[in-house]
Amino acid sequence: MKNIVILISGRGSNMEAVVRAAKAEGWPARIAAVISNKADAKGLDFAKEQGIATAVVANKDFASREEFDTALQKVIDGFAPDLVVLAGFMRILTAPFVAHYEGRMLNIHPSLLPLFPGLHTHQQALDAGVTEHGATVHFVTAELDHGPMVAQAKVAVLPGDTEDSLAARVLVQEHLLYPRAVRLFVEGRLSIDKGDVRIAA
Ligand code: GRF
Repeated sequence: MKNIVILISGRGSNMEAVVRAAKAEGWPARIAAVISNKADAKGLDFAKEQGIATAVVANKDFASREEFDTALQKVIDGFAPDLVVLAGFMRILTAPFVAHYEGRMLNIHPSLLPLFPGLHTHQQALDAGVTEHGATVHFVTAELDHGPMVAQAKVAVLPGDTEDSLAARVLVQEHLLYPRAVRLFVEGRLSIDKGDVRIAA
């Protein structure tokens, strides 16, 4: 059994999708913990209802990014993770933290990277006038919203789309894409070798 630790900051719908898929599909993995940097993150309620251990490491309680990441790492490592899943975890991470989880930390970003890193990706897509948008799962590296890509899901941008309508369409795909990628990892079929993502059949 592989241990998965999921980090959230808010709603936690991607976390929920991973938890539900792990259960429904009988993955060789357990969700060891859901950890938030915000005490009021809605997703914590769902995790508790599921009987999953939860923890809060509030960034506002720390004077620096380094101190926060050190404290967070300690809590995460208490759950002996094989994989750390960032699911709407709205923090820029320090290089030592990222290095510590090299090859075992995934993120989902709501754009077709390398397009539109950072925030407000759906508005960025609308402003750029692209006809296709989507989401990307990638291994986490020190550069924000970069890192070797694992999988992408695409949606059409439709006439009349707003930031909200586009976000909703992308989110449906995120909830399919992220569990698929996490499952590959816990089945030992997804790895990274010197920056190259390998997916075994
Ligand atoms: C998702 O769109 C995710 O891709 C992005 O932030 C959003 C989080 O939503 N990083 P949720 O907390 O998983 O519902």
